[in-house]
Amino acid sequence: MSIQAQSKRLTSVDIGKMKGATPIVALTAYHAHTARMVDGLADVILVGDSLGMVMHGLETTVPVTLDMMILQGHAVMRGSSKSLVVVDMPFGSYEESPAHAFRNAARILKETHCGAVKLEGGAHMAETIAFMVKRGVPVMAHIGMTPQSINTLGSFKALGREEASWARFIDDAKAVSDAGAFAVVVEAVAEPLAVKITEAIAAPTIGIGASALCDGQILVLEDMLGLSERVPKFVKKYGAIGELIKGAIEDYAAEVRGRTFPSSEHVYGVRG
Ligand code: KIV
Repeated sequence: MSIQAQSKRLTSVDIGKMKGATPIVALTAYHAHTARMVDGLADVILVGDSLGMVMHGLETTVPVTLDMMILQGHAVMRGSSKSLVVVDMPFGSYEESPAHAFRNAARILKETHCGAVKLEGGAHMAETIAFMVKRGVPVMAHIGMTPQSINTLGSFKALGREEASWARFIDDAKAVSDAGAFAVVVEAVAEPLAVKITEAIAAPTIGIGASALCDGQILVLEDMLGLSERVPKFVKKYGAIGELIKGAIEDYAAEVRGRTFPSSEHVYGVRG
């Protein structure tokens, strides 16, 4: 890749500098075709392990593997050239030790050429984040409701409704920011807590179901497009793409069954 081509893509350093200046736009993408549409409009494209639920119909993100993330990370990198691409580290690929986390993050960076990784966890992951950052791995942290911990959390419900519970989340945010995370996803925590966290840390916060006053926002693309079956309550739908796709498939099926399907000459003509 030429130096010119490399310089067009945003880096984790650029995202870190956006705090207090420009709200950060982040969206997920798992494929080259959706990455192409998101590229440049979002500052950050997250190849989220939510792909396990959205693309593969899994109940949780726990079964997602490193190989799945690397495959989709490749696809998103091929479909984009401007946004920073961050690839999620799946459950089991980073919790054991800092060295294990570094080894798997290095694999993600080497094999996909993405610009950063994301991992879930607060204060207990700070040592790992510091280890990785010192060795050249840009890390986005993810605190609050951490979906990979569903088996210990028990449900995906919002957290931090009681002020008495806030200290733990604020400590988590400070620990990962001080450890060198370039941004912190804050998921499904009460609005005033998300504001406190945003004020308390140097790294930009990227909210999801948290507060409009975070330094940026992220949504799962399929959720905001109206393509997902189950969508969290907080998600605003910006489109009804699922209905459009179903309508097009119904039209196609009706033409095939009714023998009104256009000749191949016509189809190839349209595609050029
Ligand atoms: O996996 C994912 O898509 C995520 C976002 C929802 C933040 O972690």
